[in-house]
Amino acid sequence: MFGAVAAVGGSVVGLGNIWRFPYVAGENGGAAFILVYLCVSFLIAVPIMLSEFSIGRSTRRNPYRAFKKLAPGTAWPAIGYMGVFTAFVILSFYSVVAGWALEFLRSSVMGEFAGMGAADIRANFDSFVAGGTMPVIWTLIFVFMTAFIVLSGVEKGIERYTKILMPAMAVLLLGMAINSSMLPGGMEGISFLFRPDFSKISPSVVLQAMGQAFFSLSLGMGAMITYGSYIKKEQNMFKVAGTVALSDLSIAILSGLAIFPAVFAFGVSPTSGPELIFITLPMVFQQMVGGYFISIIFFFLVFVAAITSSISLFEVITAYVSEEMRIPRIKAVAINTPLVMITSVFCALSQMPDSPLLIGGRNLFDIFDNLSSVYLLPIGGLFIVLFAGWVMKPSAFHDELTNRGLYGERMYPAFRVLMRYAIPVVMTTLILFLTGMVL
Ligand code: TRP
Repeated sequence: MFGAVAAVGGSVVGLGNIWRFPYVAGENGGAAFILVYLCVSFLIAVPIMLSEFSIGRSTRRNPYRAFKKLAPGTAWPAIGYMGVFTAFVILSFYSVVAGWALEFLRSSVMGEFAGMGAADIRANFDSFVAGGTMPVIWTLIFVFMTAFIVLSGVEKGIERYTKILMPAMAVLLLGMAINSSMLPGGMEGISFLFRPDFSKISPSVVLQAMGQAFFSLSLGMGAMITYGSYIKKEQNMFKVAGTVALSDLSIAILSGLAIFPAVFAFGVSPTSGPELIFITLPMVFQQMVGGYFISIIFFFLVFVAAITSSISLFEVITAYVSEEMRIPRIKAVAINTPLVMITSVFCALSQMPDSPLLIGGRNLFDIFDNLSSVYLLPIGGLFIVLFAGWVMKPSAFHDELTNRGLYGERMYPAFRVLMRYAIPVVMTTLILFLTGMVL
C-alpha cells in the first residue's frame, strides 16, 4: 500500500498546500472559500483523481499513449498534449517559488531575520524579488536539481523519505499553528478561517476553489495517469485516493492555521497575494522558542515538498518527449531543462518593478499561476472525466476502478451518475462562466 501512496503523496503535497492554499484562501474570503474548497475537493476532484488512476492503471502508459490506446484514431490523445503544455506552465512559476524557499532557507541558516520587524521583513522580500539576480539563480538551481533527480532515477529513493518527511511536516505545522493561535490577536485568524461569511461566495470564489483543488491534488494534466500506473492491480484505489486527499487537505489546513493567526497578529493583509507566507512566517519564527532551528527545518521541508512535486511535473514532460520522439531520456531531459529554465527565468524577472513582462497589467508569474489552475487544469480535468465516463468502455472502467467489483461496488452507480452527469454539467457551467468573464 505504501509505495503508491508515498509516490502520489509526494506529488500532491507541495507548494500548493503550504504556499498557494493560504494565499488564495486569503484573497477569496477565508472560511467561505474553504467551505467551497471542501465541497469541490470531494465531489469533483476526488472522482477525477479516481478517473485518472483508472486510465493510468489500465493502460500503464504515459498520458498521451494511454488515450491513444483506449481511443485509437480519435482526437482524445490531444488531452495528453495539453497536459504537457500545462506541465511547462506550472513548472515555470513553481520553480520560482521553490527558489524563494531556498533563499529563505539560506537566510534562516544565516540568522538574517533576527530582529527584523514586520515592515523590514516585507521590505526585505520586496528588494530580494526586485533585485532579479538572486531569484533567478535560485530558480535555476531548483530546475537543475529537479532535472537531475528525474534523470538519475532516484525518485523512488526520495519517495521512500516522503513517508517520514510528510508526517514531520504535519507535526511541525501543528506546532506552528498552536504557537500562532496563542499570539495576541491570533484568534481573529482562526475565525477568518472557520467562520464563513456566506455573502462572500461568488462564482469567482468557486472557480478559484476548484482551480486550487486541481492544483493541490495534481489533477487535470495526466500526472495522476502516470502515477496511477504505479498502483498495484490488487490495491484499492478508493483507499489510495481517500488517503491522499485527506493528507493533502490536512497539510493545507494546518498551513492556514499556522499562517492566518499570525497574519492578523502582525497586521499583514490577508490579501497580500503570493508573498503571503514569506512575509508572515519569519515573524512567527522570531517569537517562537527554538525559532532559529524551526525555521531552518521548515524551509528545508518546504523545499523537499516542492521538489517531490516538481519531479512529477518534469516526469510528465520527460516521458512524453522521450517516448514520442523516440529518443533516450537523457536527451529528453537535455531538451526540456533549458526550455523550463527559460520560461521560469522570465517568470522570476517578471516580478521586478518596471518589468516589461506584463500583459494587461499583470506579470507573467501571476498569469501562469492563474492560467494553469483556473483554466488549464479544470479544462483538462473536464475532458478526462468525460473520457472516463463516456468514451472508455464502461465494463473496463468498472473493473479497473473497483478491482472487478471488489471495492466500492455499492456506491458505484451513484459514482457513475456523478462522473457522467453532475461533474461535467457543473464544470462546464463554471468554465463557460469563466469565458464569459474574459470576453
Ligand atoms: N500538487 C502539487 C502541489 O500542491 C503541484 C503539482 C505537482 C501539480 N504535479 C502536478 C499540479 C500536476 C497540477 C498537476 O504543490
